[in-house]
Amino acid sequence: MHAFRDVDYDRYTITKEYDPDVETVRQRDMIRRAAELAKEREDRLGRRLNACVVTFGCQMNARDSEKINGVLTAAGIELTDDENADIVIYNTCTVRDNANQRVYGRLGNLGVMKKKHPDKMIVLCGCMVQEAAVIEKIRQTYPFVDMIFGTHNIYKFPELLVRLLEDEGMIIDVWKKTDSVVEDLPVVRKYPFKSGVNIMFGCDNFCSYCIVPYVRGRERSRMSGEILEEVRRLADTGVSEVMLLGQNVNSYGRGLEGEISFPGLLKEVEKVEGIRRIRFMTSHPKDLSDELIEVMAESRKICSHLHLPVQSGSSRVLEMMNRKYTRESYLELVYKLRKAMPDLSITTDIIVGFPGEEAADVDETVSLIHEAAYDNAFTFIYSKRAGTPAAYYESRMSAEEISEGFNRVLAAVQKEARKNVSRFSGRTMEALVEEVNEKDSGYVTGRLSGNVLVHFKGDASMVGTYQNIKLTENKGFYYIGERV
Ligand code: SAH
Ligand code: SF4
Ligand code: F3S
Repeated sequence: MHAFRDVDYDRYTITKEYDPDVETVRQRDMIRRAAELAKEREDRLGRRLNACVVTFGCQMNARDSEKINGVLTAAGIELTDDENADIVIYNTCTVRDNANQRVYGRLGNLGVMKKKHPDKMIVLCGCMVQEAAVIEKIRQTYPFVDMIFGTHNIYKFPELLVRLLEDEGMIIDVWKKTDSVVEDLPVVRKYPFKSGVNIMFGCDNFCSYCIVPYVRGRERSRMSGEILEEVRRLADTGVSEVMLLGQNVNSYGRGLEGEISFPGLLKEVEKVEGIRRIRFMTSHPKDLSDELIEVMAESRKICSHLHLPVQSGSSRVLEMMNRKYTRESYLELVYKLRKAMPDLSITTDIIVGFPGEEAADVDETVSLIHEAAYDNAFTFIYSKRAGTPAAYYESRMSAEEISEGFNRVLAAVQKEARKNVSRFSGRTMEALVEEVNEKDSGYVTGRLSGNVLVHFKGDASMVGTYQNIKLTENKGFYYIGERV
């Protein structure tokens, strides 16, 4: 079972007058109906109905899974990590092909389980199923899947759950797009002390390699009032760290008349009592303003970490990627950030093997890794996504060259990370304790403001607390420390 779970019950007791036009109210009614249907099944089975939600992909998907878990819990269905559950939901990612392949592999196993337990309900949702070709493949190869729904109608999950429990046969409900942002469904958080908060959905940047704008739709910001109310509510229920989520948080508020900008939103979140740490993800370098740097530098709560995906160190490749900045302008931004915040940890994402990239471009990425002095980086081999512009470009490097380039990039990242993370060695810093160490229950794992993990002696009672830790040993990407 999950170690940390709590439900915000207030969020689904109906406090407003019944209004069938209001989607939220309708969905809350659906939760009640789902609870009745779940109860009927339980009576038949003679035991609790349970569900297992497996998340693939990014923080957005993780947050969506918390909403799915919230609805399941509200309908009286027990949550479990065991895929032998009555209901198994895969919340999928399609950013790279290996994400799809993982899902197909695991679906095969679920099919075997379902042969033994025909009542098992298998559900697919998330980014992968936004693609028609994927749905077709599932219909043909995995006909035992009971329901497929997409990213745009996740707020209708209570209704979909009712249909699933009513046993309609294979249900496919995937929308091409949506303009709406529906508020207020129940949520079950993975951690009681920290939470993601969506500030915007979708993406309008259309980087030429990326599928996200197609599967998540156009950029939509939530009203700041709704966001702040959610943050206050979270703080009231014991959350001290929030992560503001969006594919490009720096363009928050665009298209909403009279709405505050992202730095303005940060200033408001800063005022919420009980919130001690603020993080955000992801920042697109092209939209990072001087005002944001100022707000970050002055803040007592914004963490000293910035994830600033560069993708490539070559201006030529960046142009083909449609990133709208150059190597030079990116590095200038990094210098500006470092000047304003000398302790700031900067991390990044890098793609190797973009079509048209050559070994000389990879050299530029390697040199940029050293110049930008990253604390960490996620490195990916380019994966062709059908329907994106880059899918039509031709690759110049062979598979061996790409793999050689990838290894060089990885080595540079590891070297920089070890060097840069070590700048904190011997210092005492505050860590938020996140969990008891899986391998050694005498140890706990905490996260520093700069997003680096530190392991130190402790026990379960410390989870969710802030501890001052002397960083005694640098292990490359993490520390061993001691409480002081
Ligand atoms: N919105 C974020 C990124 C979200 S996707 C941003 O722009 O920074 C996370 C990362 O996956 C990207 O930064 C990119 O490095 C990687 N990625 C996206 N599409 C990819 C593809 N087709 N092949 C390989 N990596 C990809
Ligand atoms: Fe993809 Fe680019 Fe949007 Fe990030 S900003 S989600 S990489 S299109
Ligand atoms: Fe994957 Fe969708 Fe996130 S494609 S990276 S889960 S937005």
